[in-house]
Amino acid sequence: MKIAIYPGTFDPITNGHIDVIERASRVFDKVVVTIARNSAKTPFFSVEERKEMIKEVVKNLVNVEVDAFEGLLVEYALQKHATAVIRGLRAVSDFEYELQMALMNRKLADEIITVFLMPHEKYVYLDSSVVKEVAGFGGDVNNFVPPFVATKLTEKLKSLRSKG
Ligand code: COA
Repeated sequence: MKIAIYPGTFDPITNGHIDVIERASRVFDKVVVTIARNSAKTPFFSVEERKEMIKEVVKNLVNVEVDAFEGLLVEYALQKHATAVIRGLRAVSDFEYELQMALMNRKLADEIITVFLMPHEKYVYLDSSVVKEVAGFGGDVNNFVPPFVATKLTEKLKSLRSKG
C-alpha cells in the first residue's frame, strides 16, 4: 500500500490545495492531509477548525485522511508508514523553498520521497493569505475556496469583530 503525506498549514484549505489532494489521491492508495501544529505562522483558524474544514471538503475522496502533527515531518511520515511527501508547486517562486525543504527531508530520511504535483493553472496565484485578505475586506472568495470554507471565514471574521 503506497501512502503519501500532504503537509501544510491549510489556514484555510483552498481550491488549489484540493486540486493537489485530488491528483495525489489518484496516484497513491492513501493520502494523509496533515496540519503542521508547529508552523512558524500565526494561524487564523485553530487546528480543530482547519481539520473540520478539510474533512468536509475531501469527504468524497475515500482514500484521503485528515490529521495533524507536531515535530519533524519525516518522523511523522515514517510513523504513518508513508513512502512519499506531496508538495504542490505553483510557480517558479515556490521552487527554491521547496527544493531546500525536500533536500533537508531527504537528508533526514532518505526513504521518504518528496513528490511535487502541479495544481491546475487557474490556481497558481492562490494562497491562504490572499484568501483571508480578500475575505477580510469583504470580497467574494467563492472562486477560491469551497462554500463550506467561505462560510467559516465569514463566521470567524464576524466573531472576531464582535469581540472587538
Ligand atoms: N493552492 C493554494 N495555496 C497553496 C498551494 C496550493 N496548491 N500550495 C501551497 N499553497 C500556499 C499555502 O496556502 C501557504 O499560504 P500562506 O503562506 O498564505 O499560508 C503557502 O502556499 C505555503 O504554505 P504550506 O503549503 O501550507 O506550507 P508551509 O510552508 O506553511 O508548511 C511545512 C510547511 C509545514 C510542510 C513544513 O514547515 C514542515 O514540514 N514543518 C514541520 C517541521 C519540519 O519537519 N521541518 C523540516 C522541514 S525542512
